[in-house]
This record gives sequence, C-alpha cells and structure tokens, in this order.
Amino acid sequence: MDKVTIPSLQQKKRNARKITALTAYDAPFAKLIDCAGIDIVLVGDTVGMVLQGEPHTLSVTMDQMLYHTRIVSRVTGHALVVGDMPFLSYQVSLEETVFNAGRFLKEAGAEAVKLEGGARVADRIAHLTRYDIPVMAHIGLTPQSVHRMGGYKVQGRENPERILEDAQQVEAAGAFAIVLEGMPAALAARITASVHIPTLGIGAGPHCDGQILVLHDLLGLSPSFHPRFVRQYADLSAMASKAFQQFKADVESGNFPNDSEGYGEDPGPR
Ligand code: KIV
Repeated sequence: MDKVTIPSLQQKKRNARKITALTAYDAPFAKLIDCAGIDIVLVGDTVGMVLQGEPHTLSVTMDQMLYHTRIVSRVTGHALVVGDMPFLSYQVSLEETVFNAGRFLKEAGAEAVKLEGGARVADRIAHLTRYDIPVMAHIGLTPQSVHRMGGYKVQGRENPERILEDAQQVEAAGAFAIVLEGMPAALAARITASVHIPTLGIGAGPHCDGQILVLHDLLGLSPSFHPRFVRQYADLSAMASKAFQQFKADVESGNFPNDSEGYGEDPGPR
C-alpha cells in the first residue's frame, strides 16, 4: 500500500475518491487501522472521553497527546498520522501555538496537526503552515466549545453562512483538509463543493469528501453513547463482557487452566 500523504489526499478529492479516517490512541488498534488501508489516523483529544472517562475533552494535556501520538505513529506505516491539539495549546499565543504544534511533528512522529475553530483561528493556521506544519481544520460542532454551545449540539441551522465563511477562511489560511462535525448534510455539501481541500464529515451527511469516526463508537466500545450519525460495525463491549464472565466461571469451576495450559512438571520454554 502506498503511503498516504497530504498531496495524495488532495488528489483523491480531485478524483472524487472517498477518504477514510478513524481515531486511534494505542498501538494495537492503530496497527489494525493501518493494515486495513484507512487513509488517516487521528490521535484525537477524544482520548479524554473514550479512554479517560472524562465528560469532555477540555482536561486533555499536551503531554498526554504527545504520549498517545508517539505510540500511534510508531506502528503506522500507510496512514497519515494527525495529532489533535488539545484545549489551550493553541489559544494563548502564536508563539505557543507553533511550539506546541511543532512538538507533535518533532517528538511524536505526527505528520500534521488538527485544531478546532474557523475564522477565529485562521491566524494560527496561517502561522503554522508558514513554518511547514500542516494543519487540518475542524469546524461546525467543535467539542472544545462545549460550554459555549451548551452541549454537543448540531451547528449551522440558524447561521449556515457563518460556517461556510469559516470553511473558506481556513482554506485561505492554508489548511490541507477540514473536519465538518455536527451540521446539516446540505450545509456540508455546500462547503465541500465550495472548497478545493478535502472535507471529512462526522455527523455531517454523505456529501463530504470522506468520513471520520471515533474508533470506540464504531467498535461498540462506548456503550452509553449512541448518536444517530454513528454506525456501529461491531459490538466489542458485548464480546469483552462475555469473555470476562466466561473467564470468571472457568476459574471458579476449576476449568481453567487445564493440563495443556501450563508447564506440568517440566519447566520448559514459555
Ligand atoms: O478528537 C477527535 O476524536 C475528533 C474527531 C471527533 C473528529 O476531533
């Protein structure tokens, strides 16, 4: 499989070929995703919700993001690895933004960073791209704005023009792709037709240039979270629960381990 690059993603848009993206935070899943030929692995700040059990992403730190991004990039050979900039890593100053984004490439092996916001972060995007740090933008429902939005609410119903403007501004600032999250499908279609860079939808309908999902939602590992835009391709929660119950029953009944699941009297190799 050819390595996915920023130019190859942009070529996919020009050829009307769909782009696939998933989140990953650890080596086993990153490797499976990579081997399946998925185009982009996003090390998302959703790590705060799906792995750390937080109610939102705001507490995730730079050190945590670098740790997970390093692990993912170590085992990823095909997909483009994008590191997600956590809350307050790009809001304070342009200097801090470059320093933090640069750490994703320099210390964690990412090939690009993602940050949330449209027109209001266009200066950040322009600054990073000037220093050859590729940026994926993220507009519409931006989870780091959860308190301003009053929850995870679909955006752009009342003010579609503002979100269209956000898309145009992040493209003009140099973003190489845009995540469109939580917006009406018709608005995502308009944005996708109006920009030259690929759009990746999540809860934004079928007309985007590609789709991105949070890995744990797709695998059924977020049992209490069932938004209508997620298609659950597996039920790993049910499989894992069954395995744990069976292990407990087998140990308690003396069925595990059996004679072949050990070394008997001969302490040979493992
Ligand atoms: O952090 C993340 O996982 C994301 C996706 C929801 C796109 O931003």
